Amino acid sequence: RGVSALFEPLTLRSLTIPNRAWMAPMCQYSAAVEGPEQGVPTDWHLTHLGSRAVGGAGLIVVEATAVSPEGRISPADLGLWNERQQAQFGRITRFLTEHGAVPGIQLGHAGRKASTDRSWRGGAPVGPEQHGWQPVAPSPIPFDEGHPVPEELSEADIRRVVEDFAAAARRALAAGFTVVEIHGAHGYLIHEFLSPFSNRRTDAYGGSFANRARFALEVVDAVRAEWPDELPLFFRVSATDWLSENPEDPREGWTADDTVRLAKELLAHGVDLLDVSTGGNAPKARIPVEPGYQVPFAARVKAETDLPTSAVGLITEPRQAEEIVASGQADAVMLGRELLRNPYWPNLAARELGSRGLGVPGRWPDQYH
Ligand code: FNR
Repeated sequence: RGVSALFEPLTLRSLTIPNRAWMAPMCQYSAAVEGPEQGVPTDWHLTHLGSRAVGGAGLIVVEATAVSPEGRISPADLGLWNERQQAQFGRITRFLTEHGAVPGIQLGHAGRKASTDRSWRGGAPVGPEQHGWQPVAPSPIPFDEGHPVPEELSEADIRRVVEDFAAAARRALAAGFTVVEIHGAHGYLIHEFLSPFSNRRTDAYGGSFANRARFALEVVDAVRAEWPDELPLFFRVSATDWLSENPEDPREGWTADDTVRLAKELLAHGVDLLDVSTGGNAPKARIPVEPGYQVPFAARVKAETDLPTSAVGLITEPRQAEEIVASGQADAVMLGRELLRNPYWPNLAARELGSRGLGVPGRWPDQYH
């Protein structure tokens, strides 16, 4: 049999991830919107995530999980700010681990893009009559037409959000997760601080690159202080706002150069892998979507820094994924929609690529042999 780079294990700190075909975080908008079950994982989440573990994904990154109620994207998001949520996540991490997948969770705060409807109902902003709330942001600039003006966070508010991230990381560890990913992408709160397109502050959190990156690095430091030294910490970034790509919209945004600079800072602050996505902060940006369209951004971070990366975005073919890892453009790939369509993608890809080091191609459960 040939040798597959995609099915080589990857060790970060003391954690070994069994392969490099990972499940991208994907919101399911399927938690209770109020009451004691608000933000609590359900049987849907267990089955959805569990199926992809059985399907052979080396790492499962649980969807964007809010560090506080107002940090949810929609009222039906998962959260990790109380005991009940923590306990039910424990049920999921046990199942994923039992089936050979590493359990990871993406922790986030939606910022000015909070309080919106479930994506399949259009994702428009919702008010209190639909369990919505007042969104917050670095600056009082709405995300798009039809979105409310977010409330500008004070420095005391910022400190509270940083503490919320730390508390959620503590709970993630107690729930059995071995990877935490900070959501710094897609126009949510951390990205809103990073990008001059959404951050017009004049205090220590706005203006210069160092000031705009301050909140992200404070979150990283607070999470890293809670997260054990043996376990890796990931950060998802939007490598570009795609504004410079749009001649009709020359407003200043976050760029690939900024991402390389941030990657070096993140590495110095104890981040172990950069999960490289793009976009989400500027609704009118034009994005040249095609297979693997975000891979060059991951490759650039890998070429110009010592920070490992994962690539994501229209990676759907085993040989495409293999080539990305084998050529060193990224250390791993994340699969989103393709894994929704086919939970067995990793096990089938292992067979196609003829992975070595495994008793059988892939990681089929005993029951399916
Ligand atoms: C997503 N995506 C996403 N990204 C993220 O960082 N946190 C999240 O919670 C979600 N939620 C989410 C839900 C659904 C239904 C989809 C389809 C996507 C983005 C996702 O992680 C991935 O980056 C993109 O889907 C691109 O990869 P694919 O789908 O082309 O493989």
